[in-house]
Amino acid sequence: MVILGIETSCDDTAVALYDEKKGLLSNVVSSQTKIHQEWGGVFPELAAREHTKNIFPVLDKALKDADLTLKDIDAVAITVSPGLIVSLVIGVSVGKSLSVLLNKPLIPVHHIEAHIFSIFLTQKVEYPFLALVVSGGHTEMYIINDFGNYQFVGSTLDDAVGEAYDKVARALNLGYPGGPIIDKLSKEGNEVIKLPRPLLNEKGKNRFNFSFSGLKSATIREIEKGIYKKEDIACSFQNAAVDVLVFKALDACNEFNLKNIVVAGGVSANSRLREKLKEEAEKQGINVYFPPLYLCTDNAAMVAYTGYKRFKEKGETITVDFQPMAKCR
Ligand code: KG4
Ligand code: ZN
Repeated sequence: MVILGIETSCDDTAVALYDEKKGLLSNVVSSQTKIHQEWGGVFPELAAREHTKNIFPVLDKALKDADLTLKDIDAVAITVSPGLIVSLVIGVSVGKSLSVLLNKPLIPVHHIEAHIFSIFLTQKVEYPFLALVVSGGHTEMYIINDFGNYQFVGSTLDDAVGEAYDKVARALNLGYPGGPIIDKLSKEGNEVIKLPRPLLNEKGKNRFNFSFSGLKSATIREIEKGIYKKEDIACSFQNAAVDVLVFKALDACNEFNLKNIVVAGGVSANSRLREKLKEEAEKQGINVYFPPLYLCTDNAAMVAYTGYKRFKEKGETITVDFQPMAKCR
């Protein structure tokens, strides 16, 4: 069985092919980073236009890389939520058309679920595990008991951690997306400012929530003083953000007696998070799993694979009147 996955929820146009026996056959991502850089963030109308322009060349390349044609596809999986609605509709429309044209099932995929389950494309992880989801739009934790059986633990009350990275980078005039730039720059700096670690001293259930807007604003106030080097600001911000993520993930593991953590979403590419979480978790006998870098940020391999699981394990399909949703937990 071969699944075609399509992902257009934000600013990456991605198509991948997954074979249930052979695994991932192809994984093509066309990034719009250069186009949005000028705006310091994703400009929705431009994103939608670029998806429209890129989706067929990307589809073509994914088929060529896999040495397949449309006739070899057994099902089509599409990201239906959450995301920018004007971006989502492009992938959803192309997916619906292909499903009708080929007379093959159409499978709905939740973007965050896909980020989490993409770990199984490269590694074996035992259930239950804690999923730490860290991206440009999300910062949240779930207990994953099995595929389709999830328990919400906590989420950000304001900005997502990736969003805070992007806004701090914008204030430093570093370009977009800011995460990878700050990550790199912070290696040349020192933690010269002790920035706040928000919600670290909370008690009860609220201690599993996050807040990054206070840290973002505190960092921007330090930037505006004009006395610190960019790399020192980057390092101070990154250390604070990563400390919070590491502390809360391990606290949740202890509270819910979990021995495995899967980190998912764009910020899982962060070098300090990868190092620090592994180091601290190891001390407590907890295993940490990070996707390889090419699966950290948005891609369609995760959509094809999660679509395959939805179809195979849950028999879930949708019809062409299905509407994508911008927000959905
Ligand atoms: O998952 P993703 O590709 O898109 C969303 O679903 O949001 O995540 C993008 C986010 C951006 O905010 C970007 O700055 C951040 O992930 N990011 C990083 C790194 N690489 C990407 N943040 C910190 N360090 C990185 N190395
Ligand atoms: Zn994402």
